[in-house]
This record gives sequence, C-alpha cells and structure tokens, in this order.
Amino acid sequence: MAELTRITISLEDTLLGAFDKHIAGKGYENRSEAIRDLIRDKLIREEAKEQQGEQVAVVTMVYDHHARELAAKLIDKQHHHHDLVVSTLHVHLGERHCLEVSVLRGPAEEIAHLGEELLATKGVLHGEITYTTGERTLNQWR
Ligand code: NI
Repeated sequence: MAELTRITISLEDTLLGAFDKHIAGKGYENRSEAIRDLIRDKLIREEAKEQQGEQVAVVTMVYDHHARELAAKLIDKQHHHHDLVVSTLHVHLGERHCLEVSVLRGPAEEIAHLGEELLATKGVLHGEITYTTGERTLNQWR
C-alpha cells in the first residue's frame, strides 16, 4: 500500500453531521475509508465520462424472453462484440422474465457504445450500465 498522508479538511458542522450519519448507516468504521471511497468513485466516474483507456463496465438488463426475437438479438449483439464481453450471467426470474448481467471490458468508447446498444434493444424493460475501471488505474492508487 502507498504511504498515507494525513490531511486536514474543514467542513460545516451540518455537512459533517450529515456525512457521519450517512457513513454510519453504510457500516464504515471511520471517515478516512469513506472519504477514500468517495474520491475513487469520483475519479472513476470522471474517467468513464472522458472515455479514455481501458474501461470495465457491468450491464444489467431485465427482459421478457417471449418478446419477439429479443433473446436472439441480445445474443447476436454479444457474439458480434465477443472481444468486449468477458462474461454473462443469466437468471430466469420467473415464467417470462430474465435478468442478464454482462461484464464488458475494452476500449472505453466501444464499451459505452455496446452497453447503450444492449439497453436500447427493443423489449429490454429495465437496465443500467455501471462503469468501473481496470487494473491499471487501480494500481496507480495503491
Ligand atoms: Ni431466462
């Protein structure tokens, strides 16, 4: 782990109070870990916006597999971009509905494009793309 530097920050009492309440609810043991997580989250989100370098993303989709040709279309799209799709988890939610979670990894712009294309497929009822980051970026902060 990199050497730690102690910093002092000034906050309004009310803001600090709200933050402490927030992190206690999430189970953080101290402010430092919560603030480190906030900073990493902000940097990773900014990196995703800039669409530079390697991107890792998780795409979650819920759909009705009875919808016309939808399952086949989704599979076709993933095969077409097989170099970007690391793994897919499929859960049969019930008689009709499926939950699919795909991990995408590759050039940022291509990842964003594929993720959005999957979600925009007609018949996908709900979903989202969560951007995270790859080994190289994380190693910079160790
Ligand atoms: Ni299914």
